[in-house]
Amino acid sequence: MTAPGEPRARMLVVEDNASLRGGIARALQARWGSVDQESSAGRAVERLGDPGVQPYDLVLTDLRLPGGDGLDVLRAARDRDARTAVLMMTAYGTIGTAVRAMQLGAFDLVQKPFELEELEVRVEKALEHARLVGEVATLRDERASRLGVDRIIGESAELEAAIDLARRVAPTRSTILVTGETGTGKELIAALVHALSPRANAPFVKVNCAALPETLLESELFGHERGAFTGADRTRIGRFEQADRGTLLLDEVGDMSPVTQAKVLRVLQDGEFNRLGGTRALRCDVRIVAATNRELEEAIQSGDFREDLYFRLNVIRIHLPPLRERPADVAALARHFLAEFARELGRPRTGFSDAALARLQAHAWPGNVRELRNAIERAVLLSDGPRIEVDNVALPERRSRPRGEEWRPELPAEGLPLEQVERAVLLEALRRSAWVQKDAAAFLGVSRRKLNYMIRRMGITHPTWRRNRGKPEDEGGGEAGPVEPPGIG
Ligand SMILES: Nc1ncnc2c1ncn2[C@@H]1O[C@H](COP(=O)(O)OP(=O)(O)OP(=O)(O)O)[C@@H](O)[C@H]1O
Ligand SMILES: [Mg+2]
Repeated sequence: MTAPGEPRARMLVVEDNASLRGGIARALQARWGSVDQESSAGRAVERLGDPGVQPYDLVLTDLRLPGGDGLDVLRAARDRDARTAVLMMTAYGTIGTAVRAMQLGAFDLVQKPFELEELEVRVEKALEHARLVGEVATLRDERASRLGVDRIIGESAELEAAIDLARRVAPTRSTILVTGETGTGKELIAALVHALSPRANAPFVKVNCAALPETLLESELFGHERGAFTGADRTRIGRFEQADRGTLLLDEVGDMSPVTQAKVLRVLQDGEFNRLGGTRALRCDVRIVAATNRELEEAIQSGDFREDLYFRLNVIRIHLPPLRERPADVAALARHFLAEFARELGRPRTGFSDAALARLQAHAWPGNVRELRNAIERAVLLSDGPRIEVDNVALPERRSRPRGEEWRPELPAEGLPLEQVERAVLLEALRRSAWVQKDAAAFLGVSRRKLNYMIRRMGITHPTWRRNRGKPEDEGGGEAGPVEPPGIG
C-alpha cells in the first residue's frame, strides 16, 4: 500500500553510458517514482554499503563497468539486503558470467540492446518477486518467533537440557518453576513453554511481583471491583482473568508478600479467586509459570516464602545455570548479538578477533546474557573495522567473587534486623550515586524498578526527588500504574 505521491519502489541504475542511463532512469522514474543513478561499479558499491542510504527494492546494473564489474554491484546489493532484486544488463552475454550472476543471486539478465517496454516488464516481474520473497520471510520469522524457538541461542548441554525439558512439559498443564540468576533467560524459557503449548493462541501474560507494593500487586493479579478502595472508580480485570485459557508468568515470585502468596495458593489449589472488594469467587483456566532468581528454599527457611506454595509451584523445575558455567554459549550468543546489532546499527561486522573472543570467554558475566548483549552492542559501536578487536570489548574490571568467599560484613553480637541492613546498604549506595537511582541500581546490581520499589517500601526520600511518594525520578511511563498503594475499603 502506498500513499499517493509516495514512490512505489526505490531503484538504483548503474550504467556508464550516460545517455542510456538517463533514458532508463527517466522511464523507470515515471512509473515507479524513485531512481538513483551511478556510472561506476565503485561508486555504486559505496552507495549500497552506506548505512545512511535505505536499501533499494531493485538494482539494475550493467555487467561491464569502469572500475570493477556488475558482479561487485550485485554482491554489494545482496549483502546489504537479500530482499533487493538485482537485474543485470549485458551486451556480450557469455554463458559463464550469466551463470555466475544467477549463482550470486541475480534475478534476471537483460540482453542489450533492449526496448524500454521490455525492460519495464522485467522490472515489474522482479519487483513482484521481491515482494513475495519479503512476505514469505516475514511470515516465517513471525511464525518462528511465535514458537519462540529461534530466539533461544546456545550450544551448551546445559541449555539444551533446559530447552528439552521445556519442550516436553509444554503440552501439559503442569506448573513450572524457572530458576536462575538475573539475565539467564528465564523469561525466554517461559515464553517458549507457552508458545509450544496448546495455549499458544491464548494470551501469555506477565506480572513482575517485585515491581509493585502488596495491594497494588493484588489488584494487578486479581483485579478489583468498583469502589474497592479510594480511586477504584471502575471495575478492573486482573491478570489472572486476562490470562484465561493462556499462561501467566509470575516473575520474581519470591518477592510476593505472605498475604498475596496465600491468595495465589488458593488459585493454584481451587482455581478460585476474588477481585479486590468482590464477594463472588471467580474461576479461571490459567497455566502458571513462575520465575525467580532467589533461592526459594532459603526464603522458606527464613519464613519469607510459604512452603505449601513452593510445593505447588515447584512441580517441574527448569534451572538455567549462569553463563559462566556454560562457556559454550558465550561464543554462540556473542555471534548472534553481533549480527543483530550490526544489522540494527547499520554497521556491518563480520566477527571477532581471537583475542576479543578469548576476552569474552574469560569474563565472569555476573549479569549473564543480558550483560553479554549490552557488551556486544557497545563493542559494535566502539569498533571501526569489520571485525571486533579486543580493545573494543570494554568490560568492567570488577571480577565477580566466586560463591563461598563472598563479602562478610561484621555483625554486632546481639544481632541486627535484616531490614536495617538493607536500609543501610541502600542509603549508602544512593549516597555514592549522588542520589541518582539509575546509578544506585547499577551499583547494587538490581533493576531500577526493584530499587524504586525498595525505596518506596522503606519510605526513603530525598529533596532532589520531585515526588517523594511517587516514582521519584525520571522513570515516567512505567507500567506500575497508580503510585500510592490504595487502602482497601
Ligand atoms: N539463550 C539466549 N538466547 C538469546 N537471548 C537470550 C538468551 N538468554 C537470555 N537472552 C536475552 O538476555 C536478556 C535477558 O533475558 P531474560 O529477560 O529472559 O532473563 P531473566 O532470567 O528473566 O532475567 P531477570 O531475572 O533479570 O528477569 C533478554 O534480552 C533475552 O532476550
Ligand atoms: Mg525476567
